[in-house]
Parts: sequence; C-alpha cells; structure tokens
Amino acid sequence: MNASAAIGVTGLGVMGRNLARNFARNGYTVAVHNRSAGRTHALVEEFGHEGAFVPAESPAEFVAALERPRRLMIMVQAGAATDAVIGEFAPLLDAGDMIIDAGNAHYADTRRREAALRERGLHFVGTGVSGGEEGALHGPSIMVGGSAESYAVLGPMFEKVSAQVDGEPCAAYIGSDGAGHFVKMVHNGIEYADMQLIAEAYDLLRQVAGYTPGEIADVFRRWNEGRLGSYLVEITAEVLAHVDAETGAPFVDVVVDAAGQKGTGRWTVQTALDLASPVTAIAQATFARAASGQSELRAAYAGLPGGTRPKLSRTEAERFASQVEHALYASKVIAYDQGWKMIQDAAAEYGWKIDLGTVARIWRGGCIIRASFLDRIRAAYAADRDLVSLLGEMEFAMEITDAQVPWRETVSSAARRGVPVPAFSAALAHYDTLRAGRLPAALLQGQRDYFGAHTYGRTDRPGAFHTHWAAPGRPETTA
Ligand code: 6PG
Repeated sequence: MNASAAIGVTGLGVMGRNLARNFARNGYTVAVHNRSAGRTHALVEEFGHEGAFVPAESPAEFVAALERPRRLMIMVQAGAATDAVIGEFAPLLDAGDMIIDAGNAHYADTRRREAALRERGLHFVGTGVSGGEEGALHGPSIMVGGSAESYAVLGPMFEKVSAQVDGEPCAAYIGSDGAGHFVKMVHNGIEYADMQLIAEAYDLLRQVAGYTPGEIADVFRRWNEGRLGSYLVEITAEVLAHVDAETGAPFVDVVVDAAGQKGTGRWTVQTALDLASPVTAIAQATFARAASGQSELRAAYAGLPGGTRPKLSRTEAERFASQVEHALYASKVIAYDQGWKMIQDAAAEYGWKIDLGTVARIWRGGCIIRASFLDRIRAAYAADRDLVSLLGEMEFAMEITDAQVPWRETVSSAARRGVPVPAFSAALAHYDTLRAGRLPAALLQGQRDYFGAHTYGRTDRPGAFHTHWAAPGRPETTA
C-alpha cells in the first residue's frame, strides 16, 4: 500500500469518525480503521466525498497507509480498551512514530503509557479533546501532551482542525506526558462546577423568585448577552424553554432529577485530594450529582421541615434575580480559579511547564466551557504570567467586591428558604477562607497535638512544638 496518509484514526465511534472527517475536510489524507470493518466502509461510503480517506481492514494495512513518522490516533474507550489497542499497534511501529490518544484517558494512565512507549522509541501523545460530537467535526479545543518534539509535527495539524477564535487556534501544547489529559480532566471538573452553579441559579429563580421555566429561559438569554455569556448559559436557556411534546409540560419537569456522570469530574476531585488542592466548588458539584442519584434516601426524607418560602412581588423577584446574577458570576470566578490553581499545583508536582494563559486561550472556543469570560482570564495571565489567583487581577477583584452584598444575600436567602446551593456556598466559603487572615486551623492543630502528639508550629518562632497536655502546667517542648 502507498503510505500516503498524514494521519490515521482507529476507533470509529462518533468522536473518532467526526475527528477523521474533520482532518479530511481540512485537506489531510486520513487512514481509517475500526475493529469491525463495517464502520470503516460505512464512513467512506457516507462521507468519502468530504476528503481523502484510506480505508484499512487490518492493523498492518492501516499502519502501512501512514506517512512517516507515522501519526496514529486512537479513539477508543479509556482504560483497558486503550491498552489493548496500544498493545496491538505498538509492535507494528518504528522509532519516532506517534500514537495519539485523543480519548478522555486518566492522566496517570497517560503518564504510564508515555513512559513505557518512550522506552521503545515511540511518542505517546495524550491529547484532551473537548467539544463533543459537533466540536470533533467542526473544530474542538485540543489540549496536547507528550513530547515537544511530537508537537512540532502534530501541532500544525491540530491547530488547523481546532476551533478558531479571533484568528487564533484553540489547540496548543500543554506540557509533557500526561499534561494534556490532566488539563482536559480539570476542564471537565470546571464544566461540572459551571453546570451545577447554573442549575442552582435556576432553582433559586424558580423556588424563591417564583419564575416559570419559560421565564427563567428569558433570564438566562439576557444573562448570555452579558459577562456570563457562554455556551453553557446559552444551552441552559434552550433546555428551559423546551416543552415536552407528549405532556405539554416544561421539559425540565418531565426529566428524572438524578444526574449521571462518566467519571471525569470524579477523577478531578480524587486527584485534587491527592494534590491537596481545594477545588471545593468542583467537589460540591460532583457530590451534588451523587446526592441527586440517592433516590431511596431522598424519597425517605422528602418533605422534612426546612425554610419558609414567602411569595415575592414582581419587583422583589427582579431584584432577587439580579442578585443571583452576581452570585453566579462571583461563584463562577471562584470555581474557575480553583481549577487553574489545581493546574498550577499539578504542574509543580509533575514538573510540567504549563502556560496558564494558553489554557484560557484554547478554551475560548470549541470546548464545552467556552465563554467570553475566558478571554479575560487569558488577558489576566498575559499581563502576569505568575498570577496566583484571578482575585489578584484588578477587574476580577473589583467585580468580586461589587458582588459581596448580592452574593451573600443569595446564599443566605437560599439557606433561609431551604433551597440547596452547595456550589454557591462552597464558592463563597472558599472566598472567605482566602480572605480570612486567620483560620480556625490553629485550633485543629491544638486538637491534633492533644490527642496524637502531632505537633504544631508557632506564629512567633520556627520549629515544631508539642505541649505535654497531661503533665502539670502543660509544659511545651520542641518536638
Ligand atoms: C467535552 C465534554 C465531554 C463529556 C464529558 C462529561 O469536553 O467535550 O466534557 O468530554 O461530555 O465526558 O460527561 P459526563 O457529564 O457524563 O461526565
């Protein structure tokens, strides 16, 4: 076979098929392969006119179709299926060839695979791809890990097929080994937090302001014109405005209120615990999905006493809605900031040199959390590469200052009225933690020293100390 394909895609599920079509539509010759050849032929039959495809029936045929250094993209299920496909193809490749894993793999698996394949002279390029089916076809956001050497070859291709915003591609090299998949995982964690915050805002507008789903759709449409402008707010308005054809009820009222997840939010929280990175809004969003699924528990306790919900006048409801906008925005800044800090913590742990502004830049388009606000995060990091928190940037700091009263009013109204707002509350508590100056953690240290001689530091001199709590006079010694 003539080795003519610039890239090969194996695993032709929806994402793989759409990515293959995207490369072909952008002028690349694409070798396509699937475990069952039926899908390969169906793709070529249906979309062959879009570009140059080389269908391959066997792994050997597939590899033979690729130009050197070979670029082989695998789009199969994360986990064992990915290892199986790597095991199948790696022996057929030569030093310098690249295996690109564009699925939602766990970054730790990517690090392991990268190290193993590097030993064999192969580049393993863990690549985060966001944007769902549509993004894969028309331009996703692409977060690339692996070696800088492989990005020199792959970068121009990824940058061409990715979404473009203001003439800039939403694809970039993130860092070595698992950095691309790590950043994609945090993207999904932020996605969970953003969705939960939006859902809590909806719930408040419904339970406290007394708006109908249709009215709330209008509120979100309005918000989408402003600083909250984003794909997620836009689709929220669409979902809320949708009416179930069968019953004539608002769609949101006929859907079972138990949220699923495929696991990337859970991975973010698990990893954050290991890194001691307090992504509390993301964690609460993930736990909120878990709680929604505890149907027996919820059924057993539905109707327990809670707050009262007085009816608001039209003017009061409007005032409340504008407070919720502030609360949503401020909480969103905190949730994103937590995600960025987690990326910084991981970069320090794994030695990744991640440009935080680049992360914001490539999330402005293509991905699920795309939002106008990301351009401001990009600008904040462009102005100060070492920015520790968005709260250190003047405009964000001013907005958060402006949000103080409405944000706190929103959370306290929710508490008084018994509407659960775990993500709003977590974001506000995180903000208060950062600004506190002194935290009651000092008391925890005392407790730990009391029962376990775990020692503590002192504010007035360096060292580790222990108080002999049982001894008369409770003397203190240096530990
Ligand atoms: C994306 C999405 C995509 C998917 C996630 C979340 O960036 O394109 O994040 O990866 O929608 O898997 O799905 P769950 O809500 O099912 O975890």
